[in-house]
Amino acid sequence: MTAAFNFEVKATDGKARGGVITTPRGQIRTPAFMPVGTAGTVKAMLPDSVAATGADIILGNTYHLMLRPTAERIDRLGGLHRFMNWRGPILTDSGGFQVMSLAELRKLTEDGVTFKSHVDGSRHTLTPERSMEIQRLLGSDIVMCFDECPALPATDDEVARAMRLSMRWAERSRAAFGDRPGHALFGIMQGGVTRELREESAEALKSIGFDGYAVGGLAVGEGQEAMFGVLDYAPDCLPADKPRYLMGVGKPDDIVGAVARGIDMMDCVLPTRSGRTGQVFTRRGVVNIKNARHADDPRPLDEECACPACRHYSRAYLHHVFRAQEIISSMLLTWHNLHYYQDLMAGMRAAIAEGRFADWQATFHAARAEGDI
Ligand code: GUN
Ligand code: ZN
Repeated sequence: MTAAFNFEVKATDGKARGGVITTPRGQIRTPAFMPVGTAGTVKAMLPDSVAATGADIILGNTYHLMLRPTAERIDRLGGLHRFMNWRGPILTDSGGFQVMSLAELRKLTEDGVTFKSHVDGSRHTLTPERSMEIQRLLGSDIVMCFDECPALPATDDEVARAMRLSMRWAERSRAAFGDRPGHALFGIMQGGVTRELREESAEALKSIGFDGYAVGGLAVGEGQEAMFGVLDYAPDCLPADKPRYLMGVGKPDDIVGAVARGIDMMDCVLPTRSGRTGQVFTRRGVVNIKNARHADDPRPLDEECACPACRHYSRAYLHHVFRAQEIISSMLLTWHNLHYYQDLMAGMRAAIAEGRFADWQATFHAARAEGDI
């Protein structure tokens, strides 16, 4: 018998929760950060290296994979896990969000969205039913509902329309997903920064019933204060016994603030993308390795980090290979950034388990206030 999908909260400290999600492909320790592997690769990293940073689960994208190499081809080749050689669980986003930010000539109807591929200009349609089919062909462990996320600022009418459409699509996603033991379907809350709309969305999702609940529609231009304003109440509107996933977030301080408000899972391109542009996350804040002050510096990036970039290389070397546009620069900086993010999550999980999360947060903010020296 395949193990069921299950979530257990093991400890709480204030609103912060520590727990474990069990899937047939392994356990996910929460709060969890999911590295983004958009096109069947966490850019510049081998899967074993991603796992070595401490990641339990990665994210893949319906939109990119349906266009290239297509879900049907991945299915014929044995599914996404085998195709990309990642053994752990994979969560896939449903496509709508990426269509809105990447595709051209988009046309939105009650049925779904048609668009032109940013890769080759070909025409495609995504509906809740097609998104569920693609995510099944990929072999995704955690499937996301098909939704529409409006860019902020938007009018209240526009945010309400998109949220209600997303709730009708959530119902169609649930029906199309069906009953798939060992696989989970997560609903996505929308409603912008308007409390009444967020509450209406939560009620709609709960009455449909999901294995987990995402908070969508944030980190789309509203700023941290407005995002935390929503997170002050939104997680409380969702079932306490199911995982809560904040989509597309964020910077380290966003992540800490979200966990403090009851979020269990997050994903963001920031550690991987920044690794390729020379932005490095450390306990003392962001370091730009391109800066000339690193050129003669024999010290590691971060004295406390156990990643290969910090154990085996100087800031001077990392500065040199970045300036010379050597491929190892992307590899080492991505590895460090992912390692830093996973250390951050591990630190929070330990603090929550031991009931010292407030102290941990104070130490986190104090180290950043000191700055890189
Ligand atoms: N990624 C970041 N935000 C969102 C959202 O609101 N919906 C989806 N599907 N993906 C996201
Ligand atoms: Zn490091």
